[in-house]
Amino acid sequence: MSTATLSLDGKEYELSVVVGTEGEKGIDIARFRAESGAIMLDPGYGNTGSCESGITFINGEQGILRHRGYSIEDLAEKSSFVEVAYLLVYGNLPSTEELNRFGYRLTHHSMLHEDMKKFFEGFPPSAHPMSVLSTMAASLSTYYPDGDDEDDVDLNVVRLLAKLKTIAAFSHKKSIGHPYVYPRNDLGYVGDFMHMMFAVPTETYEVDPLVRDALDMLLVLHADHEQNCSTSTVRMVGSSGADLFSTISAGISALSGPLHGGANQAVIQMLEGIRADGGDYNKYIEKAKDRDDPFRLMGFGHRVYKNFDPRARIIKKTADKILSAIGLDDPLLDIAKNLERIALSDPYFEERRLYPNVDFYSGILYRAMGIPTNMFTVLFAMGRLPGWIAQWKEMRDQKSRIHRPRQIYIGETARPYVQIEDRG
Ligand code: ACO
Repeated sequence: MSTATLSLDGKEYELSVVVGTEGEKGIDIARFRAESGAIMLDPGYGNTGSCESGITFINGEQGILRHRGYSIEDLAEKSSFVEVAYLLVYGNLPSTEELNRFGYRLTHHSMLHEDMKKFFEGFPPSAHPMSVLSTMAASLSTYYPDGDDEDDVDLNVVRLLAKLKTIAAFSHKKSIGHPYVYPRNDLGYVGDFMHMMFAVPTETYEVDPLVRDALDMLLVLHADHEQNCSTSTVRMVGSSGADLFSTISAGISALSGPLHGGANQAVIQMLEGIRADGGDYNKYIEKAKDRDDPFRLMGFGHRVYKNFDPRARIIKKTADKILSAIGLDDPLLDIAKNLERIALSDPYFEERRLYPNVDFYSGILYRAMGIPTNMFTVLFAMGRLPGWIAQWKEMRDQKSRIHRPRQIYIGETARPYVQIEDRG
């Protein structure tokens, strides 16, 4: 095993180097503080490995994304969301029998306890579906407490995968004042979700296979992304021993922010704003470059991908195909393409290696499918769910210690308490 040497205050410390199966190197500092009294400072954790993981491999320089060794390009083209969920959660691609059984379980656990409908009624009509989703996900723990053995854990995993799409669709129905549509077991995972989203009691609803397959692929593209903000939240909360549903609820909350999953909604709002303002892309490119202007080009930039985001490439291709098949001429797609073209040849973006990320085109596709803007991040959460669950399971199997980072204190040093009447 190779080692790294670090010298501090005249003393040398030998630290072991951990090498991953793809040759990535990490310096093991787990015992460094105990030996030296010093910690490593890394605000935003950009250079910190929080765990060893066998689920997802990313090479941000080369634009590689693989789940359990399978490339995202292969999975997006040849697999399905349910199969990828199985792969992430259980570690291998399923046999036909395993896939059928898994699919059967996901359909047969998709109903919600009828009492849960009362929760939906308590939310204001303006409630953002992401807030509803995280609240409802946490509330599942009141119905399905932690069990005693691994079969109980697995049952709750299946329940969560099966019910989150029902909760997602109900949160949409609640926000538009339509009656809830109950799940149907004959439609498959994504078809059933579309049916619960779009069907109304007054009409028959046919699932469009083109839209279903594109939505399935979008979910596959979002299925996991190693230790991003929401996944790290899941591992962090889960490390305390909190139950699965509360833990995933925390992940959903982390995902909702505009710098993370909420970016897909923010991209569309940005494109609509540019369109309403006369479509002057250059003005917005200049705003994004101006340090004094808080405006950022939403859907651009990524902490890890520095050449391209492989998911964005796949989505861009699909967006063209789906939009022409649906016969939709979305002016926002043109604005998006023009923004991308100008930004990619601008030195500001080139120097900072800012490329379109997965959110840049996903919103346009969701729009084309008739999904309202406030549901985009909910779709992201549905897609990311198997990844969160897989990472949570791995963290449990590794018997991970409670996550507890340290800090460098920069506040006041000790001072005497001052009575209120003596304060200036
Ligand atoms: N528009 C304009 N400038 C940008 C953008 C952007 N979208 N992203 C980064 N920059 C600039 C920063 O201002 C900074 O410039 P400086 O070096 O002159 O100070 C430099 O590029 C580095 O940016 P950081 O914010 O330090 O990069 P970080 O890795 O911390 O942030 C992030 C990554 C949050 C994705 C950022 O690029 C961003 O805010 N993008 C827009 C929001 C977005 O699309 N989020 C979705 C991410 S993907 C996902 O969660 C699925």
